[in-house]
Amino acid sequence: MNRTRQPDLGTPAVNAADSVDLEIDGHAVTVAAGTSVLRAARMAGIDIPKLCATDSLKAFGSCRLCLVEIEGRKGTPASCTTPVEDGMRITTQSGKLATLRRNVMELYISDHPLDCLTCSANGDCELQDMAGAVGLRDVRYGFDGENHLDEGVDASNPYFQFDGSKCIVCSRCVRACDEVQGTFALTIEGRGFQSKVSAGIGEDFLDSECVSCGACVQACPTATLMEKSIVEHGQPERKVLTTCAYCGVGCSFQAEIKGDQVVRMTPYKDGQANHGHSCVKGRFAWGYASHRERVLSPMIRESTDDPWREVSWEEAIAFTALRFKDIQQKHGRKSIGGITSSRCTNEEVYVVQKLVRAAFGNNNVDTCARVCHSPTGYGLKQTLGTSAGTQPFDSVMDADVIVVIGANPTEGHPVFASQMKRRLREGAKLIVLDPRRIGLVRSARIEAEHHLALLPGTNVPMINAIAHVIVSEGLVAEDYVRERCDTESFDAWKAMILKPENSPEAVAEVSGVPAEDIRAAARLYGEAENGAIYYGLGVTEHSQGSTMVMGMANLAMATGNLGRSGVGVNPLRGQNNVQGSCDMGSFPHELAGYRPVQDDDVRGAFEQHWGVTIDAEPGFRIPNMFDAACAGEFKGMYIQGEDVAQSDPNTTHVEEALSSMECLVVQDLFLNETAKFAHVFLPGTSFLEKDGTFINAERRINRVRPVMKPQQGKDEWLITQELARALGYPMDYSSAAEIMDEIAELTPTFNNVSFSFLDEVGSVQWPCNDDAPMGTPVMHIGAFVRGKGLFIETDYVPTEERTNRRFPLLLTTGRILTQYNVGAQTRRTPNNVWHNEDMLEIHPSDAETRGVRDGQLVSLTSRKGDITLRAQITDRVQPGVVYTTFHNPETGANVVTTEYSDWATTCPEYKVTAVQVAPASRRSTWQDGFEARAKRQGHVIETD
Ligand code: SF4
Ligand code: SF4
Ligand code: SF4
Ligand code: FES
Repeated sequence: MNRTRQPDLGTPAVNAADSVDLEIDGHAVTVAAGTSVLRAARMAGIDIPKLCATDSLKAFGSCRLCLVEIEGRKGTPASCTTPVEDGMRITTQSGKLATLRRNVMELYISDHPLDCLTCSANGDCELQDMAGAVGLRDVRYGFDGENHLDEGVDASNPYFQFDGSKCIVCSRCVRACDEVQGTFALTIEGRGFQSKVSAGIGEDFLDSECVSCGACVQACPTATLMEKSIVEHGQPERKVLTTCAYCGVGCSFQAEIKGDQVVRMTPYKDGQANHGHSCVKGRFAWGYASHRERVLSPMIRESTDDPWREVSWEEAIAFTALRFKDIQQKHGRKSIGGITSSRCTNEEVYVVQKLVRAAFGNNNVDTCARVCHSPTGYGLKQTLGTSAGTQPFDSVMDADVIVVIGANPTEGHPVFASQMKRRLREGAKLIVLDPRRIGLVRSARIEAEHHLALLPGTNVPMINAIAHVIVSEGLVAEDYVRERCDTESFDAWKAMILKPENSPEAVAEVSGVPAEDIRAAARLYGEAENGAIYYGLGVTEHSQGSTMVMGMANLAMATGNLGRSGVGVNPLRGQNNVQGSCDMGSFPHELAGYRPVQDDDVRGAFEQHWGVTIDAEPGFRIPNMFDAACAGEFKGMYIQGEDVAQSDPNTTHVEEALSSMECLVVQDLFLNETAKFAHVFLPGTSFLEKDGTFINAERRINRVRPVMKPQQGKDEWLITQELARALGYPMDYSSAAEIMDEIAELTPTFNNVSFSFLDEVGSVQWPCNDDAPMGTPVMHIGAFVRGKGLFIETDYVPTEERTNRRFPLLLTTGRILTQYNVGAQTRRTPNNVWHNEDMLEIHPSDAETRGVRDGQLVSLTSRKGDITLRAQITDRVQPGVVYTTFHNPETGANVVTTEYSDWATTCPEYKVTAVQVAPASRRSTWQDGFEARAKRQGHVIETD
């Protein structure tokens, strides 16, 4: 019996207001108009056999197994393609239907290997189930006729295989690739008996357009497309519902387990963020959790020149507490601090910021969001009143015009990208603002109306120019602005926007985008019934990141595109819990729920609950910690799950700061780059071991449930709690649920949240309190959270990072689908087969003038440093712009990035660095040093 298969109602749900009454096998049934007979029957508990239908795909009607009889109609129509009608009387079981269905099955089985008992799908095969359901006992035709039993196996993909001998050509895989994933990688090649599934002309899966999302594998009703983990380990015995720990989409998964081993991750159909879909990372790249390099014992060392020494938890915690106390005695209370991680659960993050505030006695806590979306928090709070995106992902299905700014959803947020592409195929229009031609600009059945390929660093003038067109051409939603916004600020903003320097003609000069293109894109957005903006780090990681966030909010307010489905300003958050880590009070100036630490009432509530006095002064941000360390004033850090030595800008400066520490504590899964400078290593838990919650980009609080016990013996929140106690602060939780209870009690936007509530409802979007007991999918309905929407002037102040003759090119950076951030997890999986090296994309004309050949080693030099990497010549980037990813530490991409940062939040300006590129014959000095240090510390990642 299959223990993990999710229910399948055969055809997709229909969203219709009208209902239809009919009778199926004598039972009265009422369903939404447009529902298929197959689905109506299954909803009533009547299982009509089926093979080519599944409820994630449109009905196809090819297998003829789901036949029914309908009173008053001739023949036996397929129930999957027949919509219900009022008064229909349907028979699903009769002698005639049984014979027809048996005949169909007989044909399938006569051309199918008879290896059920040894087949890896045994017990989870719909063909096997249907053979049983229709009572097939033998095959009259024998098995000697022409067949497909010698079709080979394509095992090229590292995670799944295709065994052509088992294929029944039902097209579910092809349709899943088209409809669910939107990649259109598969086709049915040939006709009739010759028909077969093909991943490309003469190509195997690995070389094809396939992006390994696994939707086809999930859709396949036979063992044709099958996970290799199932082939190797067998069928799962139980399942645990949890949340992906990679990106901010926050996909829900069933972790499927055999014994104590995960054998498959299946996207959960009722997951509100992903609706049963996934990408290659969440579905397949979880093997890092049991990678041989994972550290499972605490380790300490007196000096970073010493080898690590494995010790007990007690010794590691006592050592850390003693050092921290000693540092504070010598250098003062504010000489230590901590960094929380967006990889960790809310509960784990909350206790670390509490450790800093209550046990360290200062507010020197910051989070890795500092280097990604801190401008989002600031900009949206100032204008709209809440530091978060405005919509659920599903809202995109109501958008008419979608604007993607500085984000690459198909690589960074793939499951949401598939949903967005579905809406674009339905007819929504797309505008892309990006220096680089991202995949969405033109891909299978998708073409952007406008791609404004602006120069890096010119977002703010571009958004001003778009607003200029909206205002000067009378496209402002006057009634909306009058009713919902602060009109004084609107008037001031309007005057600023209408200045000549904000005209498309003037902005064309600085951005490189023709004025007419800017005008056309602005009109398209301005005239849209529902215009939705989605943006990423290409907006925030700039010296004017916060200005740009406010510029987008201004534009959305001016056009009335906030406060309902289909519109909004939506950050595509990078990491799984970056929203949550910010919500939990990880910033030095804010307690949980973004409430100022300087506010006596706010602080008072926490002081009363925690039984300590909290410092009224905001503490250090991450860059301030590094600066203070270099100045000799900051000597100890507790870093939870973040590799600052690799991920933060200006690596040389970061390394200098880390080298000056008297006690650096790293809590992580692996010895990362930062651990090279550490004195204490506290092994962390993978998402498969965590009990808690993550919050995704749409403010959705999802449960993370433990699939196995912590492999290093301790929950992460418990490690932090024990350190707090060793420092003299009596932290005393007995479970992660208790921590959430405290968060809910002290945070107005979380008041109604608890583990038991989430277990009951699945997930919920904050605010979730007495005003919104079931959460808040769309923000700012009726009124903005801050009251009147505030327009803020967004004058353009160019970055100080400029090109000149020495550094004539602009470097910008981004992610790719198969790797994740610094690669600590994905580089320890077979995902390396797709990308095991960061490349430098350079335009053919720039390559030619420098004598650079494709694949050649080149030096990339900025004012801060130089590295080498291999060149990839492509017109995806425009002349004057080069691009790289930053997934491999040995690349050292951040050796060249600068210390410039957002004026409001100190978010680093990763996206604009003036550089020069030249052919190179050897690696850079930094890279030589990197390798030497890695060897000295026995610290080389073994990739699979
Ligand atoms: S591979 Fe599976 S889903 Fe695709 S056509 Fe064959 S049996 Fe159907
Ligand atoms: S894995 Fe995804 S992208 Fe690849 S063929 Fe299957 S559905 Fe298409
Ligand atoms: S889209 Fe993001 S959350 Fe979903 S499976 Fe992929 S990495 Fe995980
Ligand atoms: S399930 Fe209806 S025709 Fe295949």
